[in-house]
Amino acid sequence: TLSSSDLAKRASALKAAEFVESGMKVGLGTGSTAAFLVRRLGERMREEGLRIVGVPTSAQTARLAREEGIEVATLEETGRLDICIDGADEADPRLNLIKGGGGALLWEKIVATAADRVVVIADAGKRVPVLGAFPLPVEVIPFGLSSTRRLIEEAIAGLDVDGRRVELRLRDGQPFVTDEGNRILDLHLGRIGDPLALALRLNQIPGVVENGLFLGIADTLVIGHADGRAEVVD
Ligand code: A5P
Repeated sequence: TLSSSDLAKRASALKAAEFVESGMKVGLGTGSTAAFLVRRLGERMREEGLRIVGVPTSAQTARLAREEGIEVATLEETGRLDICIDGADEADPRLNLIKGGGGALLWEKIVATAADRVVVIADAGKRVPVLGAFPLPVEVIPFGLSSTRRLIEEAIAGLDVDGRRVELRLRDGQPFVTDEGNRILDLHLGRIGDPLALALRLNQIPGVVENGLFLGIADTLVIGHADGRAEVVD
């Protein structure tokens, strides 16, 4: 049986799956909400003969898509995508997002920006007035990690945020490693007063590959509720 948050995630995924039509090239997001979407697309292939090509945003999603019998391709092979559907950790009223809780932000951002329409699927708890309560993931290369980290700490020192703690993400006591072999620093900022200023500063630092702020990228937000309803916000 599913928890109420899982029911809400599933409701948003089922609604967003309706935006997918045969012949489309579809960016497939990462995380527990996106997993409901991938499974629903697999089901639609079996039930109604839906035919799509999927571009996964992580090795994990690639495995799930293959299990579901979805044809998987790389962005190199597909070129531009018709739609990308992905989860998020936070979404503000302008549809700016924090992503990367699952560590897949780099591929997710590349795939999302290659799509004509970006649809975010989430439960209502992900909707926030201001971004930043969720720690902001920043993908950094392993070389020179401590000095990159210091530059990040200096960069956020002068910004309008509530907290400034930077933490190396661990998994099973070891540094978390992304699909590109990089590391993740989680920035505990509490409140991000100016997301654009922060995103620009972070991406100027050598060693930073990408940050989890998705600004002006999402077109549509689908908020699911535990009773199965889903609201579409454009
Ligand atoms: C993965 O890196 C993230 O961007 C996910 O999209 C995000 O963490 C949402 O995950 P859930 O759907 O599991 O909450």
